[in-house]
Formats: sequence, C-alpha cells, structure tokens
Amino acid sequence: MSDILEQLYERREKARKGGGQRRIDAQHAKGKLTARERLELLLDPDSFEEFDMFVKHRSVDFGMEKTHIPGDGVVTGWGTINGRKTFVFAQDFTVFGGSLSETHAKKICKVQEMAMMHGAPIIGLNDSGGARIQEGVASLAGYTDVFQNNIKASGVVPQISVIMGPSAGGAVYSPALTDFIFMVRDSSYMFLTGPDVLKTVTNEIVTAEELGGAKTHTTKSSVADGAFDNDMEAIAEIRRLFDFLPLNNRAGSPKRPFFDKHDRIDTSLDTLVPDNPNLPYDMHELVEKIADEGDFFEIQSDFAKNILCGFIRLEGQTIGIVANQPMVLAGCLDSDASRKAARHVRFCDAFDIPLLTLVDVPGFLPGTSQEFGGVIKHGAKLLYAFGEATVPKVTIITRKAYGGAYCVMAPKHLGGDMNYAWPSAQIAVMGAKGATEILHRKDLGDAEKTAAHIADYEARFLSPFRAAELGYIDEVIQPRSTRKRITRAFALLKDKELQTPWKKHGNLPL
Ligand code: HXC
Repeated sequence: MSDILEQLYERREKARKGGGQRRIDAQHAKGKLTARERLELLLDPDSFEEFDMFVKHRSVDFGMEKTHIPGDGVVTGWGTINGRKTFVFAQDFTVFGGSLSETHAKKICKVQEMAMMHGAPIIGLNDSGGARIQEGVASLAGYTDVFQNNIKASGVVPQISVIMGPSAGGAVYSPALTDFIFMVRDSSYMFLTGPDVLKTVTNEIVTAEELGGAKTHTTKSSVADGAFDNDMEAIAEIRRLFDFLPLNNRAGSPKRPFFDKHDRIDTSLDTLVPDNPNLPYDMHELVEKIADEGDFFEIQSDFAKNILCGFIRLEGQTIGIVANQPMVLAGCLDSDASRKAARHVRFCDAFDIPLLTLVDVPGFLPGTSQEFGGVIKHGAKLLYAFGEATVPKVTIITRKAYGGAYCVMAPKHLGGDMNYAWPSAQIAVMGAKGATEILHRKDLGDAEKTAAHIADYEARFLSPFRAAELGYIDEVIQPRSTRKRITRAFALLKDKELQTPWKKHGNLPL
C-alpha cells in the first residue's frame, strides 16, 4: 500500500511541476504567476478540488508521442470563493505554451458541463498560444466544442474570462462568448490576426500591445470589461465581482450581511444637481452615496464613459446600475453607450439582478458619425433590453430626460415598476431654447418675445410635474431620501412576477 501511495504522491508532484522549473522561472520572469499559483489566490484556502490531473494528449505526430506532460496544459476543477462554489480552469503556459489540444479542450468542456449541471459560475484563466499546432483539426474541433458549451451556458451560469497571457486567433472567441472579460496590463493580449500577418496583408506596423493589449480593449474596442495592473490585482478584483453575482439563473440575486442603514439620509444630495442646468456633476457621487457602504463595482469604466454600468448592493442585495454621466458628452446617449448599457441590462435580467436606472440625459448625440455608425440600431438595443427585462426596475430622473432618450432610459412605458423624479427633473421633448427655435421661428429676431417663449416652455415642461400629473412618474422625491425610497421600492418588488407572451426568442436589433 505504501508503494502505491508513494506512486500517487510522485505522480501528483510531477503533474504539479507542469512544464518544469525552467519554464516556471520564465513565467515568473515575465511578471506572471503560474496556473496553479493563480488558482490558489482565486479560490478559498484548501477549497480547490482538481479534476483530470493525469490526462495526457493523444497526439502521435511530430514526435509528440514522446512528450507527455500530465494535465496537458490546463488545470481544472472546482472550489469556493468566500464560501460560494465555482468551477475553474487555468491554462498552464509552461506546458506546450498552454496550447489547446483535443484532450485539453475535453478537460475544459467537462468543467463547463459540470458548472451548468450544478448551477455554479465558471471562471477561465486564459494564458495560451492557441490551437496546439501539432494536432491540427483535432484542436480546432476542441475549440469549437468549448464555444458550443459557452453558448449553452450563456444565461444559465455566469461565465468570467480573465486574459493573463496571449489569446490569439480563433481562441479569442471562447472569452468573447462569456459574460465578462478582464485583462492584465502589459502581459496579456487578444487579437484575431497578429502584428506579423497585419504587416504582410495590410502594411500596418503595430505592436502586439497596441493591437490587442488591455488599453486597446478597454478604451477602443470594448472587447474587455476591465484591466488590472498584475495577476494578483486581477484575481482580487475577480473575487470582488464574484461576490456580486448569483450562482446561476435560478438562484436569485445574492444577499449578504450589510452594515449600512436602509433609511440613511444624505443631505448633500440636495445640492448635487447644480442650479445651472448646463453644468455637469459626477453621477458616481450619487451611485456611491446610495450604495451599501459606498461599494460600486464598475464595468467598462474606461469605455463610453457617458454611461455608468456596474453593481452595487442595497440592503445586502446585488442591484445592477445603469446611469447617465453628465460629466462626459453631457450624458448624451450614443452608439457605444447604448451597446454597453444594453449588454449590462441583459446580463442583469438573465440572472435576476434588479435594475436601478439613474437618468440625466439631454438626448441622443447628434452627428453624421453617429448616424453612419448605426446609432438607430444601437439605440434600439438599449430600448429592447430595458423593454424585455422582467426583473424589478426602479428609475430615478435627477435632471434631464429629453426626447427619445427619455423613452429609452427605463421609463414607465417600458415596464418601469417604480419611477421617481427629483424636483430638479426636466422631462420634455427637448430643452426650452431648442423648442422655442422650432415653435416660434418667426419671433427669433425679437429677443424679448423669444425670452418670453423660453420662460413659458420652461414653466410648462421643464419640471417633473407634468409627467407626475400624467402618472408617468410615481412620486417626486427629495434627493436626500433617495436611498430610503429605492431600498423600500426594491423590497416591495422582491416577489415581482411578470408573464410575457411565449416565443422561442426575440430578435434583438444586433
Ligand atoms: C504548440 C506551442 C504553441 C502552439 C506556443 N507553443 N504556442 N506549442 N502549439 N500553438 C510552445 C512553444 O513551442 C514553446 O515550447 C512554448 O510553447 C513557449 O512558447 P514560446 O514561443 O517560447 O513563448 P513566447 O516567446 O512567450 O511566445 C508566446 C507566443 C508564441 C507568442 C504565444 O509561442 C506563438 O506565437 N505561438 C504560436 C501562436 C499561434 O500561431 N497559435 C495558433 C493560433 S491559430 P518550448 O518547448 O520551446 O518551451 C488558433 C486557431 C484557433 O489558435 C481556432 C479556433 C477556432
């Protein structure tokens, strides 16, 4: 017996060494942790249960039959994060460059399927040279099996990808099919075709970092939802995000102990909106002042900054946030902001996370670049997402809610459950000056008459009261009591049930 135990110990030790000390040192020299070190930090101490540690590839081409490393370049299993279960895989760059073989793919598929079956999220730590070149189409087949499972799992369990090294070619599509992608600055990149191919085909000269580094994907392409300075920070933030997420689509929005009074009054909110309606203010301040303990996990904070998306907690329960940001483009909606927010709304709805929408929007951004870029379709995505969402929806208009943007930002008419406005709200087709220029064009030469028309329009429409008279606003509330009002609203809506007509699926304006 002791021999067999000895053998097990030795086999495990060998598997744990991955591609060997030389390659582990090379990984560390690049400022990167190994797959196992990453999992150790991600999961609670002693919670990791590994699967398939001894799996080997089956390739016999290019001398591969002589090179077997147990585990085949990916470490898989399950563990807990703050006591809640999750499935994981971490590609091991020290083994064949973390490249994906037929058996490597099977290991990933196994944990994906278990995640769906047991109703727990799946977190993938990606660090791979892509398809195992020696295996050809078997590797491509493996990738596609992983993609198919990503699609099956979408909307069933949360899927998180962290890019912690290379991710090139079709390999990028597994992360792209998941709910969130995070990257590590300076050590990760994602692209379909690399700098060398670009140079040959399009004559463009660009570095891997410029083409597909964290900065590119968090500020330009919006492929990634966030970037962190190093492996340790990335993993700590993934643990923080995980705490906000439900385990699956039936588990409900998670609730955890909180240390903040639900009826906390904040008098500073009474002066958040400046007297001059053309002056900006930072919507982060409102989000943080109403959140439990001021904790806001922001998604895509460096892209389309004219809208804020993320998660807070109210009375310990996760709430999805969508909020116009008057500090950027005066809070106008544009194509990028609409796409960003629509995706967030759909994630929240798929996983039963209630939605809080904070509105201060002067309209859609005008311009040829917006029109040529398809702002009609992109704006429709957000309209569709809010309209189809059946989770509890609470909306607060703090200042402007003009035109089409009023219609889009979760109003009563798109199934808003509780629609509040601050006294500073202005709910109208457009601003008073613009309205006067259209309605009273003939008087524009007369400054006195024009001023009178503007004042008349402001008095009639630039307040929340016309909308409140029509019942489109349930109540005009004091800014200071916003937290109390919304926590009570969400508590009321806890057991909301809504029937919608049967359909296979809708046709989101993609
Ligand atoms: C097999 C690979 C590999 C791969 C790397 N290695 N990529 N083995 N298949 N795809 C091996 C290397 O031979 C090397 O082995 C070890 O991993 C480390 O690689 P290095 O090149 O020494 O590391 P580094 O200098 O850091 O460069 C990393 C890299 C480079 C940029 C990722 O390895 C590279 O360009 N690899 C090929 C990338 C690629 O073209 N992949 C296919 C993409 S197409 P030793 O034994 O020397 O340590 C694709 C299609 C998917 O993925 C389609 C899905 C639908």
